[in-house]
Amino acid sequence: MYSEKVMDHFNNPRNVGEIENPSGVGTVGNAKCGDIMRMYFDIDDKGIIRDVKFKTFGCGAAVATSSMATELVKGKTVKEALEVTNKAVMEALDGLPPVKVHCSLLAEEAIHAALWDYAKKNDIVIEGLEEPVNDIAEKVEEEEY
Ligand code: FES
Repeated sequence: MYSEKVMDHFNNPRNVGEIENPSGVGTVGNAKCGDIMRMYFDIDDKGIIRDVKFKTFGCGAAVATSSMATELVKGKTVKEALEVTNKAVMEALDGLPPVKVHCSLLAEEAIHAALWDYAKKNDIVIEGLEEPVNDIAEKVEEEEY
């Protein structure tokens, strides 16, 4: 049911933890399943994401997608991080079962929430970044559950 990559990131999640005084931190949840994900970014003055950490209180797929998402955004520019969509995360994990697709949305939205916080703190606008939601259940269609 789960790919080897999903199992690997679930069993050995990368970048778990938190960053003190992060450049940006974002928390998103899903009221339907009760899962919560928080992402911390350390971004240098060139706009490059130097370090990423996450904490996820959630299902195995949420842990695996947040772990993979942190690997994908590390070392990238803020703009490139926006291209790390839930589809990109799923592809990097060799797919997720259909009922778990919404878990990857939590990872995408957590990236956006951390970038949004960074933009707010620095009084900048990140082109293409929309204000993230706190509860992704608002975004997910009923039939995806
Ligand atoms: Fe809620 Fe996976 S079941 S994020």
